[in-house]
Amino acid sequence: MGIACIDFFSLFCTLIIYNVRMKHLKMYEADDKLISIIRDNYSVLQSLGSFGINLGFGDKTVREVCEEQGVDTYTFLAVVNFTINGYLDNENSDRLSIPTLMHYLKASHDYYLRFQLPFIRRELADALDEHSSLAQLILKLYDEYAHSIRVHMMYEEKTVFPYVENLLEGNANGNYDIETFSKNHGQTDQKLRELKQIIIKYLPADGLRNNQLSATLYDIYNNEEWLSLHANVEDEIFIPAIRRVEQKSRQNDVSAKISNMISQSPSNSEVLSEREKDVIVCVVQGMSNKEIADHLYISTNTVITHRRNIARKLQIHSPAGLTIYAIVNQLVDISSVKL
Ligand SMILES: [Fe+2]
Ligand SMILES: [Fe+2]
Repeated sequence: MGIACIDFFSLFCTLIIYNVRMKHLKMYEADDKLISIIRDNYSVLQSLGSFGINLGFGDKTVREVCEEQGVDTYTFLAVVNFTINGYLDNENSDRLSIPTLMHYLKASHDYYLRFQLPFIRRELADALDEHSSLAQLILKLYDEYAHSIRVHMMYEEKTVFPYVENLLEGNANGNYDIETFSKNHGQTDQKLRELKQIIIKYLPADGLRNNQLSATLYDIYNNEEWLSLHANVEDEIFIPAIRRVEQKSRQNDVSAKISNMISQSPSNSEVLSEREKDVIVCVVQGMSNKEIADHLYISTNTVITHRRNIARKLQIHSPAGLTIYAIVNQLVDISSVKL
């Protein structure tokens, strides 16, 4: 009976955990109400701000709110579903709007640098005894952490995002690529981990400040999680999207070069006179200038002038080059050419 009770209890717990997980594994879609996403995951509230979505949207769906507020619906849902469930829609990744994604990342930086970092600094300073040298050291450690985050985000703002903007406009910087960023895009939370440990393990117990310190620690944990999700969005959504743009841009470059080469040959043939084409045919057949002159009933000097003009117009000087030109432009049949 006891064993049956334990088994029943385990099953009950498993079902609860399963239900909780299932709830968070829902993939949100454009026709879901935005309020229902927030009800399930209040952490989405911060993302709304970074996407530039204002509150006060009533019972509207995600699509309605995004369209009204000028936010790309697919990109918003891609970030929301990834941050809530770790879900990536690799098959439709071409639908991502990179400008929307960059706007979101920039606004997230702004939120973290201007609001979260100073907010926690104030909380820490209030919770610590300002006269204690340990407090001074903790604040120093926090300031070092804030500095490293600022450097990390400023690199993205000053180097990575401008590179991507130029890439989207077709002016890619040949000395930089997203792989360079990806290789150096490390985690920045080492100092924050140290700070938490010091507060938890070594700060002297003080009933008065304990509650304040616990509340600050709670906010530090939340921030750490937020920062890690932010880095994951960059690693798993942003970087792969830019890799695809780079790949397309390289393919377009090659296609443009090929079509340029193809289009150049026939258009130049139009500028040749009929007499010049006759001269080319004779050259291809291996005739000397004298033979060409006799064949076409013109003087040798005229043949030389025609040949000079042909070389200038086509930028082709050798008989072999003229032979290729004549074949490609169908002035002669390849079977009539001695190879
Ligand atoms: Fe970032
Ligand atoms: Fe980053």
